[in-house]
Amino acid sequence: MSNSVRIIEMGPRDGLQNEKTLVSVEARIAFVEALVAAGLSTVEVGAFVSPKAIPQMASSDQVLRGVRHVKDAEFHVLVPNEKGYDAARTAGAEVVSVFAAASEGFSRANINCSVAESIERFKPVLERAKADGVKVRGYISCVLGCPFDGEIMPKAVADLARTLWDLGCYEISLGDTIGVGTPLKARQMLRAVAAEVATDKLAMHFHDTYGQALANLYAGMEEGVRVIDSAAGGLGGCPYAPGATGNVATEDVVYMLEGMGIATGVDMDKLLAATNEVSRLIGRPAVSRVASALNAKNRAAK
Ligand code: HMG
Ligand code: MG
Repeated sequence: MSNSVRIIEMGPRDGLQNEKTLVSVEARIAFVEALVAAGLSTVEVGAFVSPKAIPQMASSDQVLRGVRHVKDAEFHVLVPNEKGYDAARTAGAEVVSVFAAASEGFSRANINCSVAESIERFKPVLERAKADGVKVRGYISCVLGCPFDGEIMPKAVADLARTLWDLGCYEISLGDTIGVGTPLKARQMLRAVAAEVATDKLAMHFHDTYGQALANLYAGMEEGVRVIDSAAGGLGGCPYAPGATGNVATEDVVYMLEGMGIATGVDMDKLLAATNEVSRLIGRPAVSRVASALNAKNRAAK
């Protein structure tokens, strides 16, 4: 396998958006800074969505402004529509992500419109982003199953990936939102998508609800995908996806990749410290297996 993988750190956005405890702007900024210091140079830091829908992401403009001094890092934010784009740009966003779904049921629940309507909302965002020199990433949720519509056909994912690509997204991130996928299904889905959008323009965004995320990522890497979305501590989940739990943990991904001889540039001790601090703030331990193992080992060594 080629020796380079790009990790997009989701902790401050996907990671915190589903937590009962609201984390202060200052602590969210400190979390981002700690992640970058640990070597995670691309971080999704917030979402310009309705604060009524996702109160955890309120004040994402302050978070983005607060981290913009950090050098050699790329910060992403979610925008569902032009209103979000305006706010993100005012706060200085240079990379934004639009998010669609492979299923009608989830699209309705999450962003209150059909898949086709969501594409209409994204069109002006992509047009303006192009004129502004802003990069746009495109998410597709529920690529391996939907909490409302059940099974999802790989072709539905592939067609939507093509649409987002044709609109001008520079990368398509494929979300197993409720973590139901298994490796062969993930492989099939990625092959179908790769017939429409080149593999090197795809990212894997796999939640670990059923404990399959690392296996699915490995299958995807065998297909040639080299961009992985993960969240420190295995935080995450979407309030509009019943049953969804955290993203695959960044610690677990880093451990696997390093074990495969793929350098990540991530300092595990610093990442663990960032995870432990955010766990303290939200009042629950990290679900990451590697973080738990290293914390136990460090306690035993004391
Ligand atoms: P809507 O109700 O259809 O929109 O919501 P609307 O245009 O009718 O506006 C309703 C209210 O929202 C108005 O405010 C608007 O001003 C406001 P009110 O008059 O009631 O006070 N509004 C906004 N406020 C702030 N920022 C905006 C914005 N747009 C409208 N951009 C909307 C549509 C998309 C806004 C809403 O449904 C929403 O915010 N949903 C939240 C979706 C979300 O953030 N979900 C979680 C992230 S996606 C995810 O986690 C999946 C992913 O990780 C991949 C994976 O795992 O699969 C990416
Ligand atoms: Mg997600």
